[in-house]
Amino acid sequence: MLNEVMPEAVNIRRYLDVTLTAEIERGIDAIFFESSNTKSFATEQSRAAFRERWLGRYLRDDPQFAYLAMTPPGDVVGYLVGAVDDPAHAPRFADIGFFADLRGQTKQFPAHLHVNLAPEFRNRGIGKQLVDRFLADAKVQGARGVHVVTSAGALNVSFYNRNGFAEVARIGPARELVFLARAL
Ligand SMILES: CC(C)(COP(=O)(O)OP(=O)(O)OC[C@H]1O[C@@H](n2cnc3c(N)ncnc32)[C@H](O)[C@@H]1OP(=O)(O)O)[C@@H](O)C(=O)NCCC(=O)NCCS
Repeated sequence: MLNEVMPEAVNIRRYLDVTLTAEIERGIDAIFFESSNTKSFATEQSRAAFRERWLGRYLRDDPQFAYLAMTPPGDVVGYLVGAVDDPAHAPRFADIGFFADLRGQTKQFPAHLHVNLAPEFRNRGIGKQLVDRFLADAKVQGARGVHVVTSAGALNVSFYNRNGFAEVARIGPARELVFLARAL
């Protein structure tokens, strides 16, 4: 049972170092969809497009900045995907409208990430381990700073604040999204 695994037994592994199995891929997808605010999709195509936007392209295009949190038997309990180049200037992120409005901020904090854990592995410090691994690599690659975009009232804002991210900008018609960033 996953929830019998002690958090200290969970290892952070580079996605590229893991031999992918269908079970691992299903595990990543299950965590992604469970963690997302969007729960229902009109069509299978829109569900696939949503996965591609927030997960699929990172695993395909930036796999060196993907990490898995895994139990000793090899179950995935969390993941982080990210990129280190400025998304306001990267053609592969041109579909995300808010990056164009945040050119000034993304220049200073170009790296960005998406991190999610299975519910029974939250609040145990595993998210911090994933973030620390990515930030170390982003720094080595020369990124000056890192950002995340999340909902202004989300529970995860305190997680990012505790990990050194501070609010830099609000986005959206109702300022419902927050751009949190830290220098590296
Ligand atoms: C956000 C998340 C990656 C943090 O990892 P973690 O290992 O649980 O973090 P820590 O144990 O270091 O800290 C716990 C913090 O996680 C956040 N958190 C816990 N449960 C959460 C949940 N269900 N949803 C969102 N954030 C949550 C809170 O900020 C909490 O801080 P608090 O105790 O001050 O309220 C993880 O909780 C998670 O996957 N949450 C759901 C998905 C999510 O919000 N992902 C981030 C999208 S931007």
